[in-house]
Amino acid sequence: MHHDDLSFLADLVKRQSGVQVSTDRSYLFESRLLPVARQFGHSGLDGLARALRGSCDPKLADAVVEAMTTNESFFFRDQHPFDQFRRFMLPELRKARAGDRCLRIWSAAASTGQEPYSLAMCLEEAGEEFRSWRIEILATDISSEALEKGREGIYSQFEVQRGLSVQMMVKYFDQDGTKWKVKDCLGKRISFAKHNLMKSNRALGKFDIIFLRNVLIYFDLETKKRILEEVASMLRDPGFLCLGGTESVIGVTSALKAVDGRRGVFVPDAYEGPERRSVREGGSRPERWGSNRLVNASGMPALSPGLSRSGGTT
Ligand SMILES: C[S@@+](CC[C@H](N)C(=O)[O-])C[C@H]1O[C@@H](n2cnc3c(N)ncnc32)[C@H](O)[C@@H]1O
Repeated sequence: MHHDDLSFLADLVKRQSGVQVSTDRSYLFESRLLPVARQFGHSGLDGLARALRGSCDPKLADAVVEAMTTNESFFFRDQHPFDQFRRFMLPELRKARAGDRCLRIWSAAASTGQEPYSLAMCLEEAGEEFRSWRIEILATDISSEALEKGREGIYSQFEVQRGLSVQMMVKYFDQDGTKWKVKDCLGKRISFAKHNLMKSNRALGKFDIIFLRNVLIYFDLETKKRILEEVASMLRDPGFLCLGGTESVIGVTSALKAVDGRRGVFVPDAYEGPERRSVREGGSRPERWGSNRLVNASGMPALSPGLSRSGGTT
């Protein structure tokens, strides 16, 4: 394949989705885009690039972008974020939102649905506590195909076995031959919608919890910074952001800070947390939340201990 065509396709994918794919990975372009080329009546990637250069057919451009995204996901991926959701975020929000009993959760790169369904299972497992609450899980992704699968909620034996115990499978899925369909009690809380993180995210409103996991890794620094700063402004107070195990705000933005002892969980830097609020209000000292301790989402120090970001609160 001609290098100019490869560069053209890589630029198109980056411009439209933020996803960077190196032109060194020509095999990836070929394996993912040849089926798209054929589907649209072109014999190869040169024909595909020519068609896109001529008149940028939005359907064809969307199909190229979708094919180049990686939709890998599974239930309770990495486990730890879901433990934090259950043991830290939900108890904090139960206190903070006791008045309106309403929660908005955003799964911002929901792929084929395993992440939002895992969150819905955690809510079900929380028992009676949240039954009477109004809880919305908005599951968005750039890929219509991935979202369609999530909306259908039908998974293979292999997919349900990745992350779910037999007990959870039987409790939350109906078996139909070799397929497993999620039960209504999970689906009723979730709405799936197509949304490109490169577009205005603020239009989606404010959230109590945002899961933005395993997608920032595909973006360049400038894009990560813009999205993280927008997301910080979309969190209610209190509100929590959860990133993937290899993702961090360190070296990207100071608009968010890691929560001490809560690996992978971040809060807006401007947010004072219960410790300061309680002290200001004359109460006892609860757990300290945000700090600028330099850790990444895996809990590893990002710089030598003792160094701290300037201008931050601890
Ligand atoms: C590796 S999956 C992560 C799924 C899930 N969050 C998890 O951790 O298991 C990355 C997802 O990000 C989506 N994605 C990539 N670029 C996007 C963009 N600009 N806007 C919205 N979603 C995007 C892809 O379609 C893909 O489904």
